[in-house]
Amino acid sequence: GLARQLDRPIVLVGMMGVGKSSVGKRLAGLLGCAFVDADEEIEHSAQMTIPEIFEDFGEDYFRDGERRVIARLISESTEEPGCNIVIATGGGAFCNPETRALILDKAITVWLDSEIDTLVERTARKDNRPLLKEGDPREILTRLRNERAPLYAQAPIHVVSGSGPHVQTINKVLQGIS
Ligand code: S3P
Repeated sequence: GLARQLDRPIVLVGMMGVGKSSVGKRLAGLLGCAFVDADEEIEHSAQMTIPEIFEDFGEDYFRDGERRVIARLISESTEEPGCNIVIATGGGAFCNPETRALILDKAITVWLDSEIDTLVERTARKDNRPLLKEGDPREILTRLRNERAPLYAQAPIHVVSGSGPHVQTINKVLQGIS
């Protein structure tokens, strides 16, 4: 049941715009866990925004910081018993082999996936994703989703997030982890 598996952090992976942060926040609320957004944590420790990190230091540097931040969040949370954290990762985090291996080893990993239309609509609400500035967002999201799907599919739990309210997605995640 639920209690048996919640001895590990829950890590949400999947494309930009799928709703990892919104779903994660509410899921943590329901489970009585803390919630951490890895992107926000990176911005906090670098004292820079993600677009600034990409601009000044490049994507490889960002990926390295991302790996370190996720490793720290996971190790802090596993020091104490019980489910004490839900972590939302940036869309590319799980594509880094080291970050992926760490997450798969230490966490309950949930892949959230949506149709391209939903990803396009949700990412258009914010102007904070450097990878979507390199061309047409729909084309970029389609390409990245195709490239990344086989990696995301290594997560043991798959949840399809529709275009509707997140409550449905949260219920599916709860079923998945129980
Ligand atoms: C990225 C996703 C972003 C952020 C960065 C790169 C990606 O996070 O980490 O812009 O490679 O998919 P979200 O998935 O929270 O948008």
